[in-house]
Amino acid sequence: MNHPAMQGLNLDTPSYVKNAKLVAWVLDMVALCKPDNVYWCDGSDAEYQRLCQQLVKAGTFKKLNPAKRPNSFLACSDPTDVARVEDRTYICPAKKEDAGPTNNWMAPAEMRATLQPLFDGCMAGRTMYVVPFSMGPLGSPIAHIGIELSDSPYVAVNMKIMTRMGKAVFDVLGLDGEFVPCVHTVGAPLAAGGQDVAWPCNKTKYIVHYPDTREIWSYGSGYGGNALLGKKCFALRIASNMGRAAAGGPSGSPGWLAEHMLILGVTSPLGKKYHVAAAFPSACGKTNFAMLIPPAGFEGWKVTTIGDDIAWIKPAADGKLYAINPEAGYFGVAPGTNTLTNPNCMASLAKDTIFTNVALTDDGDVWWEGMSEAPAHAIDWQGKDWTPAIAKDTGAKAAHPNARFTVAAINNPALDVAWDDPKGVAIDAFIFGGRRSTTVPLVTEARTWTEGVYMAATMGSETTAAATSQAGVVRRDPFAMLPFIGYNMSDYFQHWLSLGEKLAEGCKTSGATLPKIYTANWFRKGEDGKFVWPGYGENMRVLKWIIDRVEGTGQGTDNVMGVSPSYQDLTWTGLDFNEAKFNNVTSINKGDWLKELQLHAELFQQLAHHLPPALLDTKAAIEKRLAA
Ligand code: GTP
Ligand code: SPV
Ligand code: MN
Repeated sequence: MNHPAMQGLNLDTPSYVKNAKLVAWVLDMVALCKPDNVYWCDGSDAEYQRLCQQLVKAGTFKKLNPAKRPNSFLACSDPTDVARVEDRTYICPAKKEDAGPTNNWMAPAEMRATLQPLFDGCMAGRTMYVVPFSMGPLGSPIAHIGIELSDSPYVAVNMKIMTRMGKAVFDVLGLDGEFVPCVHTVGAPLAAGGQDVAWPCNKTKYIVHYPDTREIWSYGSGYGGNALLGKKCFALRIASNMGRAAAGGPSGSPGWLAEHMLILGVTSPLGKKYHVAAAFPSACGKTNFAMLIPPAGFEGWKVTTIGDDIAWIKPAADGKLYAINPEAGYFGVAPGTNTLTNPNCMASLAKDTIFTNVALTDDGDVWWEGMSEAPAHAIDWQGKDWTPAIAKDTGAKAAHPNARFTVAAINNPALDVAWDDPKGVAIDAFIFGGRRSTTVPLVTEARTWTEGVYMAATMGSETTAAATSQAGVVRRDPFAMLPFIGYNMSDYFQHWLSLGEKLAEGCKTSGATLPKIYTANWFRKGEDGKFVWPGYGENMRVLKWIIDRVEGTGQGTDNVMGVSPSYQDLTWTGLDFNEAKFNNVTSINKGDWLKELQLHAELFQQLAHHLPPALLDTKAAIEKRLAA
């Protein structure tokens, strides 16, 4: 390689990097992006500290007061780069129908031609970080390797927390191991001697996936899922393709699932342990539910965290579904988190944390809306003075509503012993939950796998600040995967149905049972506009009913949608929640549901191509029951 841009550049690869394909690809990307330096991350603690110091010097990080928040930093982003950009996210298989009607698509050649000039020279004046990472325990049969090339040291340190990142990945890769190539740039080349800014980014953004060749290209954003490519881009969009591609073949493999789900363990006072995986859309309570502390009245119950955002779920020979969390850390929503709603989360954040877009207090600590009583003064996420009076006058938020923390799973006091067991944990129940202020009851059990798939497929939710679209609008968010499915949504529904059928066959011989499927809604509001259900730790009451149902001891009543508990079927010890309130969060209003089914119909119309007929049959059955 003697491209002019590469002259004078130290292109020596570390001696432990032996994968020829990897080395060739890095050289190609250097020739394209033209960085000033190439740095191979080793994942050591010393490296992490060094990069953090460098980020402090560059003004990207502020070191927080070590007496208050040891080894922790605050980053504040450019105000235009604060969340996932769904309208700039593309799934680019050769055929448009394979991306499906819910994804943005461009023909791969056209997209490559679009990106080429943007990536050409995009890293000028910057260092290219080579970030080797494993999604899932290093070297385990369930894990997959990625290499992210990024010109953002902020990305490199976040990847150290969020993934198993470091040079051991190269040993696993060996001479010819497979990896998913991920190229990321903030899209802000520096002219020679040019002055940098604290949060470089570009107003043009592209988050691009090529499922056919399993590549990820991300341009213009440094934030969250746009830039930490192991998370949504790899572990959901590319991995959902891998899981489906694994289905079929001569062995008739059911394939596997990559889902936007938390995974929790729940242990009863008798010491029996269950595992639940739950899908809620972005900023709708996964981290909270995964770290739940059972309330008064639930002495002897314990909830432990396996994962808070992503689950990879694989069928095993015993007919059960085993789930792992491919991540190693949490990139969680800060606003609303406090010692009452989520004490385990607050304890996790006591040290070793990167905060992004929260406020800086005068004593060098952090604050966000809903954390505690407001400080008299702080510097808000945009670097401006903030006081409660200013907030009252102008509505200014101290923290951005999508402000986040990055913290290692091992900081979580409720971490499950099996959190990085490559075998995964056997799932007893799935929960799908949207954010709905009306219509959808607190909890409903599906009577069959198909009915469960229908509930998940038709789920709606009010949008949140996690994506840069208008917040608070109800949209269909099938399986909480609308922004994350890497292929045609209807094919994904079919994948779930087929996997269920395969499992049912396996269960016949093994005696195992399929996981039960539930929908939940913690977010119904009363006439006063307030949440009726207390939520958070109190969600344990619903979780216990689900466990009782799994055990076959829980009572429930059939309704048009499925099975739901009556007031006396839940445990109320320790909570003042009367039957009227219960009815308020569980009622099924016929008029509301006729309208809701109209929205299901619109979704099915949009997804008509390849839509599994079983879902239309299920809808017809619900309509018939509703009309009766
Ligand atoms: P992503 O990381 O974006 O995928 O989201 P998440 O599902 O992990 O979201 P998280 O648990 O961080 O929830 C964020 C928001 O949901 C915060 O505003 C919480 O206050 C709110 N929330 C979580 N659980 C509950 C609940 O049980 N009831 C109510 N009313 N709000 C909740
Ligand atoms: C989400 O939006 O669902 C997240 C945050 O978990 S991000 O990683 O930015 O996508
Ligand atoms: Mn998420």
